[in-house]
Amino acid sequence: PAAPVPVICIDGPTASGKGTLASEVARRLGYHYLDSGSLYRLTGLAARRAGLALENPDEARLSALARQLPVGFAGGHILLGQEDVGEAIRTEAAGMDASRVSALPGVRQALLELQRSCARLPGLVADGRDMGTVIFPHALLKVYLTAGSAQRAERRHKQLISKGIPAKLDGLRADLEARDARDQNRVASPLEPAQDALLLDNTHLTIEDSVDQVLRWWQERQPFR
Ligand code: DC
Repeated sequence: PAAPVPVICIDGPTASGKGTLASEVARRLGYHYLDSGSLYRLTGLAARRAGLALENPDEARLSALARQLPVGFAGGHILLGQEDVGEAIRTEAAGMDASRVSALPGVRQALLELQRSCARLPGLVADGRDMGTVIFPHALLKVYLTAGSAQRAERRHKQLISKGIPAKLDGLRADLEARDARDQNRVASPLEPAQDALLLDNTHLTIEDSVDQVLRWWQERQPFR
């Protein structure tokens, strides 16, 4: 049989810093990295482009769209068909659309195999909402990352301002609390810690602190080190 692929899952709410943490842990270990949220963002964007309504979505059509998503990852770029959509999927509106389409079980099912196929040697670090609960239930390490919503809004605010995108702190905080509520209360794979997840609250931690903590946990799980 093929050697099992080591998988590290990092789940948590919007703007908790999952992406930064997961991609850095992947880099340090030389592992592949899966940003599962980008798939829901791509689905939302593709739906908008196709003129599909997301407020009152047609699950069958959206699921078909997700199943045939013409997505490509090349040299750090995210492609939808021939178009580089790396920036278009990062807007707040795209995040909200992603949250809407992700509540549909058919869409989640459509993206399941694509996500599992990312587990390849030498290993994978995957971030999202249900990496540890649904996609990789047998992962060797599951981390559930949290931070206070005020802190998360402030980080998101800084990030947007630094990119020259105007943003208001109050609005951001309200939006991310609305997104948390939808992600936590949906019936299909709601955002919740896996039973065997280790909790990491990074409200008062630097990125380096969080990376070091995850790498320490990972080392503790290596039987031959
Ligand atoms: O992590 P993110 O902000 O890029 O995710 C965007 C939305 O996609 C999020 O609000 C909920 C959804 N999502 C999901 O349901 N499951 C995942 N594994 C990742 C994201």
